[in-house]
Amino acid sequence: MGIILRKLNASDEQAFLEGAKEWEGESPHWYSFIWTPGYSYSEMLKQLEDDDAGKNLRPGRVPHTMLYGFLDDKIIGRLSVRHHLNENLRKRGGHIGYAVAKKYRGQGYATEMVRQALTFCRALGLESIMVTCADDNEASWKVIEKFGGKLEDKVWDDEDEEMIRRYWITL
Ligand SMILES: CC(C)(COP(=O)(O)OP(=O)(O)OC[C@H]1O[C@@H](n2cnc3c(N)ncnc32)[C@H](O)[C@@H]1OP(=O)(O)O)[C@@H](O)C(=O)NCCC(=O)NCCS
Repeated sequence: MGIILRKLNASDEQAFLEGAKEWEGESPHWYSFIWTPGYSYSEMLKQLEDDDAGKNLRPGRVPHTMLYGFLDDKIIGRLSVRHHLNENLRKRGGHIGYAVAKKYRGQGYATEMVRQALTFCRALGLESIMVTCADDNEASWKVIEKFGGKLEDKVWDDEDEEMIRRYWITL
């Protein structure tokens, strides 16, 4: 069975906690912007619903949807969709951001997650999306270019102190 990219629901807690183990020792935001070990799963779900609906947004956040890539019953990665850009996201971040756990990389899963995310973005009414990545993140820009991403420019990111690429994909 292939990857299914979808929102989490109440019955995914076990899969979510198992999936988190793949990211131990790495920056937690690659897996979740909300959850950290010990955090309540149901509380996270509530916040994800709010983020999706644009309710109670934290400062500087726009409405966004977190989607997880399921391979059978395992979570292999995540993809977040920002419903529109703000000044920060226009600089870096763009409309979508994604990550695949180490042991699942190099098998086309990020490509498949982005393919499904484009359909999600079209359903949101977006006509084109910005996607950014580090200049040296070859796996990421290869995914973007597979979907026709046009390089707008490369800019220096002061926050992470690295050169980033900014692409646009027409939907
Ligand atoms: C970037 C990332 C999502 C790619 O996930 P993935 O599932 O390995 O990607 P895919 O298997 O779909 O591969 C995409 C392309 O990159 C290539 N690729 C994969 N790993 C690579 C690597 N380490 N170096 C160079 N190219 C690589 C693949 O060959 C493929 O290109 P091809 O079809 O022309 O062969 C994953 O490496 C990751 O999660 N990294 C950490 C988080 C991150 O950087 N996210 C992106 C932020 S913009």
